[in-house]
Amino acid sequence: MTMSEQNKDSAADPQKPLKDLTDMQTLVSLCKRRGFVFPSSEIYGGINSCWDYGPLGIELKMAVKDSWWKSMTQFQDDVEGVDASILMHPRVWEASGHVENFNDPLVDCKKCKARHRADHLKPVRELEAKLGHLPTLEEMAKVLENAGCPNCGTAGSLTAPRLFNMMFKTHMGPVADEGNHVYLRPETAQGIFVNFRNVQESMRRKLPFGIAQIGKAFRNEITPGNFTFRTREFEQMEMQYFVSPGTDTEHFERWREARLQWHIENGIRPNKLRFHPHGQNELAHYAKQAGDIQYEFPIGWQELEGIHNRTDFDLGRHTEFSGKSLHYSDENNNKFIPYVIETSVGCDRFVLAVMCDAYRANEDRVVMQFHPKFAPYKVAVFPLMKKDELVEPAKRLYDELRKTFKTDFDVAGSIGKRYRRHEEIGTPFCVTIDYDGLIDQSVTIRHRDTMAQERIPMAKVKSYIETAFQNWKV
Ligand code: GAP
Repeated sequence: MTMSEQNKDSAADPQKPLKDLTDMQTLVSLCKRRGFVFPSSEIYGGINSCWDYGPLGIELKMAVKDSWWKSMTQFQDDVEGVDASILMHPRVWEASGHVENFNDPLVDCKKCKARHRADHLKPVRELEAKLGHLPTLEEMAKVLENAGCPNCGTAGSLTAPRLFNMMFKTHMGPVADEGNHVYLRPETAQGIFVNFRNVQESMRRKLPFGIAQIGKAFRNEITPGNFTFRTREFEQMEMQYFVSPGTDTEHFERWREARLQWHIENGIRPNKLRFHPHGQNELAHYAKQAGDIQYEFPIGWQELEGIHNRTDFDLGRHTEFSGKSLHYSDENNNKFIPYVIETSVGCDRFVLAVMCDAYRANEDRVVMQFHPKFAPYKVAVFPLMKKDELVEPAKRLYDELRKTFKTDFDVAGSIGKRYRRHEEIGTPFCVTIDYDGLIDQSVTIRHRDTMAQERIPMAKVKSYIETAFQNWKV
C-alpha cells in the first residue's frame, strides 16, 4: 500500500471551510474524550465546578505557565518571582479588605432551593443600568420581590438578598475554635504584598520593580460554571509592579498594552480580544483605575485578565495592620508607600480561551489549531503499517525527536484515522515512514492546518520542525 492509497481514507477536503466553536459543551466533550480535562471525582458522580487536567491538559497548562513566567521574569529585567503559601496569617485578609468587602449578594429560591447572585439577575441588572451604579441590598430586594426564580420560574419565591463572603474558612491545627481560623487565599496578590520588603531588600531592588507569582486561589463562588471559566479552585498568574506615586497612570498604560500583546503573541486572535475599562461602579474596593482584557468565549465577551491600579492601598493597609513599615525611601530621601499596578490573569481561564480559540471543525474533521508552544504533542511519528521493517525505523526517529519535542508514536488504525486523532489534539506535524522512505531515507511530513504533505529527508525532520516553529505566524 502506498501513501496516496492510504490517504484516501482520510476523506477530508482541505478546501472545506472550518468553523469556530459555538458552544462550550462541544469543548467539554472533546476535552474528556481526548484527555485534556475530566470532571473531578467522576466515579463518585463528580463535584460541582471542580475539574482535573488529564495527560494532554496538563501539558497545555504547564506550557501556558511557562510562557507567562518567562515573559514576566526571564524577559523582564525588573520583575522577580515568588511562591508564597496559600495559608496566610488571618490578619492579612482583614488588612486587604477581604473580610469586610469580598462579598457577593446572594438570594435563595424558597421553592427549588437554587442559589443565585442577585446582581446577575435581570431585574437587578436593569435597575443597575438605570441608576448607573450597583443597587443597594434594599433596592435589589424591592425589584426582586415578585421576580421569578431563573431556575424553576416560580414568581415571588426569592429571599431578600444578603451578603455572602466568598472566602473559604478552615482551622489551623487540631482544635476548631474561632481563635485559630485561617482562610484559603482568594487571590495570590497578598502573598506578594507581604513579601514586598523581603524581595526588595534581598534582591537590592529600586522602584520601579515587580513581583510575579503563579498559584492556586479559592473562592466560594455562588454561581460557578461554564466549564473551567468560573470555578471555586483555580490558578492565578499575577504580577504586582511597584512604582512611585505620580508615575502610576503611565505604568498602568504600559502594562495594559504589554499584556494585550502577550495574549496576541500567544496565538489568541486579536479580533477575539478587547479591553474593557471599568466604570466607577465596577471598581474593586482597592482600585483607582482598572480594566479587563476580555475574550469572546462561546458564552460571549468575558474577562480574561484584570489590570488594576491598586494605589498604595495594600502596602498602606499592611503597614497599618502589621505595624511594620512598608515605606520606600528614594535617592532624595523622600519616604512614601509605593503604588501598585497589578496584572492578574486566571491560568485556567486562559487555558480555556486557548482551547476555545484553537477549535475549528467541519463535518469531516475537528482541528485544534494551537500555537505550537501550547500543542501537547509537537509531532507524531507513524509507521505507515504495523510491519517490523517500518516500525523499527519509525521508532528510531521517534526516539531521536523526543529528545527535543514532546512526540507521540502511533501505529493504531489507518493513517487517515491517525491524522484525525492528532488534528483533534492539535499536533502541528505528523511524520509517516513508508516503503519508499526505506529506500531513500525520506519521510512524509504533514501540516495540521493546511493538510499539506511534503517529502523531506528523514535526517532533516528535527531542523524542519524547529524552523517551522521559529517562523510560526500568529
Ligand atoms: N488580584 C486581583 C484579582 O484577583 P480578579 O479580577 O478577581 O482580580 C483575576 O481575578 C483573574 O482571575 C480574572 O481575570 C480571572 O481570569 C481569574 N478568576 C477570578 N475568579 C475566577 C474563578 N472563580 N474561576 C476561574 N478564574 C477566576
